[in-house]
Amino acid sequence: MRAALLEKQGEPLRIVDDIEIREPGVGEVRVAIKSCGLCHSDLSVIDGAFPATVPIVVGHEAAGIVERVGPGVTHLAPGDSVVLTAAPPCGLCYWCVRGEPGVCVNAVGIQTNTFPDGTTGLSRRGEVVYRGVGLGAFAEYVLTPATGAVKVPPDAPLDILSVIGCAVQTGVGAVFNAARVQEGSTVLVIGLGGVGLAVVQGARIAGASQIIVSDPVAARREAAARFGASTLLDPASTDVVAACKDLTGVGVDYAFESAGRASLVQVALNATRNGGVTVCLGAPPLDEAIEISPAVLFTVSEKKLVASVLGSSGAPREIPRLVGLWQAGLLDLEGLVTARRPLAEINQATADLRAGRGIRTVMLI
Ligand SMILES: NC(=O)c1ccc[n+]([C@@H]2O[C@H](COP(=O)([O-])OP(=O)(O)OC[C@H]3O[C@@H](n4cnc5c(N)ncnc54)[C@H](O)[C@@H]3O)[C@@H](O)[C@H]2O)c1
Ligand SMILES: [Zn+2]
Ligand SMILES: [Zn+2]
Repeated sequence: MRAALLEKQGEPLRIVDDIEIREPGVGEVRVAIKSCGLCHSDLSVIDGAFPATVPIVVGHEAAGIVERVGPGVTHLAPGDSVVLTAAPPCGLCYWCVRGEPGVCVNAVGIQTNTFPDGTTGLSRRGEVVYRGVGLGAFAEYVLTPATGAVKVPPDAPLDILSVIGCAVQTGVGAVFNAARVQEGSTVLVIGLGGVGLAVVQGARIAGASQIIVSDPVAARREAAARFGASTLLDPASTDVVAACKDLTGVGVDYAFESAGRASLVQVALNATRNGGVTVCLGAPPLDEAIEISPAVLFTVSEKKLVASVLGSSGAPREIPRLVGLWQAGLLDLEGLVTARRPLAEINQATADLRAGRGIRTVMLI
């Protein structure tokens, strides 16, 4: 099959057409990918901020059509439209049965770039090809456990719905499931890419009274205003913590770090009111660390620092809910997709993301 292959971190991707993908096994499906958004987590693998074994196919914000189902799959059939997730919950492990599928022990592919047993189902000229960020969807086909492919209406525009697979599931899910933002509360969002702008929309849907946003890119602040932000801050010229204290009197009830810089987690913590919640969504380079004084930031203040991966919810539950919000006109997915490009233009898309041009580029496969 055809795919965008990363052969060395820090170098451009190359389109190749000789990758082999195995047949779906028990409980698996093979999906013909129609569209896949480019997320900063893909860029972190491409540029080397996250270590990864190569050669690897990245791309994990995808939608497509079920091509073939493996033995035992009864709820999906060839021809079904699906949105994919990089973290398919197994439904059986300690965490899944506790209702914490975000940390399903069998959904580790997002870190290992393999299936749980270490295989990838992909090869090229006899060499293993890794399945990047839990999917490897900048490719014609993807193999996934059937819980990782969630059926959507047959006539739904897949190029639009693919952004649910990562950015929207992560951002809106973090608001609903990790922070549990309450009506009338105040929210700060630091970093307004696909993830941060989904947080803004989730906070608006949850009924936040103030949504304060910060990003150095003016166009992204303006996009946030369209999605419901109430105050736009440029961190280059404004003290974000002081502004949050001024605007709320006490600090924000919830602060989200969705830029992917460790130093901004500290800003988010400082902007959070005593007793409030700071949510880490960004995935900073692995050598960045957060320095926190427990006495000042936690013991006396009772601030809560939480993390959230892919919206802290199982995709089979969350994706239909997000599709429903979109169908009801409450969630704007179209506004997040600012460019569509053929797979052959993947390196232009990565250049746009590095430069903060547009919001999400969706690659059409
Ligand atoms: N937790 C998860 O499950 C999950 C899922 C997807 C992505 N991520 C991570 O979330 C982060 C955001 O992803 P994205 O695809 O939206 O990225 P993006 O590159 O589109 O957006 C990041 C934004 O942060 C802004 N930024 C940079 N410096 C800033 C500063 N000092 N103050 C405020 N904003 C600043 C940038 O201008 C940009 O708009 C990445 O680290 C990504 O790896 C995490
Ligand atoms: Zn992502
Ligand atoms: Zn599980």
